[in-house]
Amino acid sequence: MPPSGVPLQEADAHGTALFQPYKARDVVARNRVVIAPMQQYSAVDGHATDWHVAHLGRFALGGAGIVFVESTAVEARGRNAHGDTGLWKDSQIEPLRRVAKVLKDNGAVPAIQLGHTGRKGALQAPWAGHSHLNADDAARGEAAWQVVGPSALPVGDGGWQVPHALSTAEVKELVKAWGEAAHRAAQAGFEMLEVHGAHGYLIHQFLSPVANVRTDEYGGSIKNRHRFALEVAEAVRAQWPAHLPLFWRISLADLDHELSMDELVDLLMGLKARGVDVIDCSSGGGISNYPTDGPRVARGLEYRANDGQRIKAMTGMDVMAVGLIIDPHLAEAILKAGQADLIAIGREALFNPNWAVHAQMSLGANPDYALWPRQHGSYLAKRAGMADPLRNTVLQRDASRMLASTPGVTA
Ligand SMILES: Cc1cc2nc3c(=O)[nH]c(=O)nc-3n(C[C@H](O)[C@H](O)[C@H](O)COP(=O)(O)O)c2cc1C
Repeated sequence: MPPSGVPLQEADAHGTALFQPYKARDVVARNRVVIAPMQQYSAVDGHATDWHVAHLGRFALGGAGIVFVESTAVEARGRNAHGDTGLWKDSQIEPLRRVAKVLKDNGAVPAIQLGHTGRKGALQAPWAGHSHLNADDAARGEAAWQVVGPSALPVGDGGWQVPHALSTAEVKELVKAWGEAAHRAAQAGFEMLEVHGAHGYLIHQFLSPVANVRTDEYGGSIKNRHRFALEVAEAVRAQWPAHLPLFWRISLADLDHELSMDELVDLLMGLKARGVDVIDCSSGGGISNYPTDGPRVARGLEYRANDGQRIKAMTGMDVMAVGLIIDPHLAEAILKAGQADLIAIGREALFNPNWAVHAQMSLGANPDYALWPRQHGSYLAKRAGMADPLRNTVLQRDASRMLASTPGVTA
């Protein structure tokens, strides 16, 4: 039993889909609520800090089934900003092991995303402007570095660096770096791993006919543009234990532009053949240079959930939905409609780290606080007869009465 007393597998889902356990390979999550990877810009030389323990730990205490550590760079050049977490050297394992342990001890499956930003790196933290690192940043010890990409093409105007176009040999080295980082993630105790193949970062850049104009085996035809992604999947799977599930994040926004569903499914089937289990269907885009002259497609959630459902049907793979899923009833409806197997929550979890346990109450599952840490749950269960915990209306009726009987105060 973990210290919080929360069972790893919460059996009593009260008929909800969201609180059914989820199993992939040998790993069981207590429910379908996933905390999406979210960069914190708070690492030191790629090493996770106390911030990551506290920030991620509260989602485990808040009842989520799976908690993802942010995009963690497979090499130093692949960071978005200096404060990104990394797994490019062994010293970065130990601080992440602490994070994984806290998540696991508190009932969540410890999960991590690996990433490489390619030509979209060398930026400031969001609170410092999120612009390109400049001379002032260099003066305080955060110099820009030479970013890399499939071709020497910047993201666009506005100060974006011209990336160093990776040689064929350098691409192959980088594929190895993905595998090595996956090995370190397993050593740190993570049980689910996601490859960031979306949001205009390196893998996405190789897939893109706009960012990738290479003439070697990694560019040109769609088969060649898929090659880097498929080799990364192979390298990661070779290092990532066979009993642990592998996720892959894609950008559904590509479907608004050049990419057909058939081409996307072709890539996904290649990933499946290489041992990818779950497709994380991000709504986010990021290849800013896709031609955007065509008709814009509405970005409502339903449209994305329908895409997820098609991907599920066409690939037979599990799908995770993400993007502005705030209402537990919507999450429940997506799962019940078979549009996804998992629901990832991002910003709403920053707003409310207890999203999962609150969702559970809203859906009427386990009203007895079973999913809450026992240090909190028993007190809350006793209080339940006195207050409506969801609306925070503590003894509103009694409070009104008290105010009414207090001289000089009107309720
Ligand atoms: C602070 C922050 C950091 C993020 N960092 C990452 C990241 O490291 N990797 C990634 O794939 N997406 C990242 N995202 C995107 C989220 O994973 C998620 O897909 C997005 O926020 C949409 O979900 P939401 O509407 O529930 O927030 C980040 C989002 C936020 C708000």
